[in-house]
Amino acid sequence: MNQATPSWRAELHALTQDWLQRIALAADLAGLRELEVASVGKKGDVTALMRRVGTLPPEERRDYGAAAGDVRTQVDQALADRKTALEQAILDAELADDTFDETVPGLLPKRGHPHPLSLVQAEIESVFSSMGFHVLDYPEVESEFDNFEALNIPSWHPARDMQDTFWLQDGHLLRTHTSSGQVRAMQTFAPPFRAVFPGKVYRYEATDASHEHTFHQVEGLLVDRHVSVAHLLDSMRTLLSAILKTDVTVRLRPGYFPFVEPGFELDIQCRVCGGKGCSVCKQSGWLELLPCGLVHPHVLRAGGLDPEEWQGWAFGLGLSRLVMMRFGVPDVRLLLSGDTRFLTQF
Ligand code: PHE
Repeated sequence: MNQATPSWRAELHALTQDWLQRIALAADLAGLRELEVASVGKKGDVTALMRRVGTLPPEERRDYGAAAGDVRTQVDQALADRKTALEQAILDAELADDTFDETVPGLLPKRGHPHPLSLVQAEIESVFSSMGFHVLDYPEVESEFDNFEALNIPSWHPARDMQDTFWLQDGHLLRTHTSSGQVRAMQTFAPPFRAVFPGKVYRYEATDASHEHTFHQVEGLLVDRHVSVAHLLDSMRTLLSAILKTDVTVRLRPGYFPFVEPGFELDIQCRVCGGKGCSVCKQSGWLELLPCGLVHPHVLRAGGLDPEEWQGWAFGLGLSRLVMMRFGVPDVRLLLSGDTRFLTQF
């Protein structure tokens, strides 16, 4: 080169030396990261060098470009080397620490689990929605009207004692059953309609392996013209076969609930013994599954429907109970215990 050495050569050299030295002295990865940003980052010193090429006389541009590129390469290399060295130092320190045992297996991140109640509820919802049912969500804090009065349970009625109630100070209550949504649904949808409403219900009672103050139900309600017990029975058989994924044999026994007439307890034939009698069904051949019945005319009227024109059936499925049967859960209190030893099994 017979030209005088351009002034930028010395400058680039000095700049390179400065960065290489600072990088070599970086004490830790965070410090190194800062240097990386300040040098080769978008607004870094080294990055800025390239942009200067346009300010130089045309005959110098090629050499300058090459030199600036070289600076960049050196700085990148220094950054990479220092990073490797710092990481190695961390590893060395860990290995040198004799409380560190590299043969201990690593910690796996904890995985979440769907709650068994959510699993079964989702299945039930999908079976019902495929059969044209709305899936509804009604309040847990309810009025006395929707939980009792509208369901033909006036305040003097002994049936109030069947469901011990958590009362709130303002006269509302925690719903004691999902039936509290029945009249709400009748007031919302023009008949004929069909709906299920799953949810949490509350009862003020002592807890044991089969009683919990908070548990889950799924209410089913169908309103149409000409609904009969035969229709109820057949609907239950179809629905339960879909939910339990096997043909079920059902029977009805009389059951009393003020909001249905006639009212029933529905049993399914024990699938363990096929009805012969075993320990699961306490030798009876049948398992009690859900209460149901034809909607009482008073309830239809409370929902604004004319019982001469409209009829309905309703059932109250014990979701918590179904989950216990399905997974063999021995104690209902496990369901809402929040105990991860239980939950991680699903
Ligand atoms: N709501 C009643 C209960 O929880 C169950 C039920 C629902 C009975 C629908 C008949 C019809 O005890």
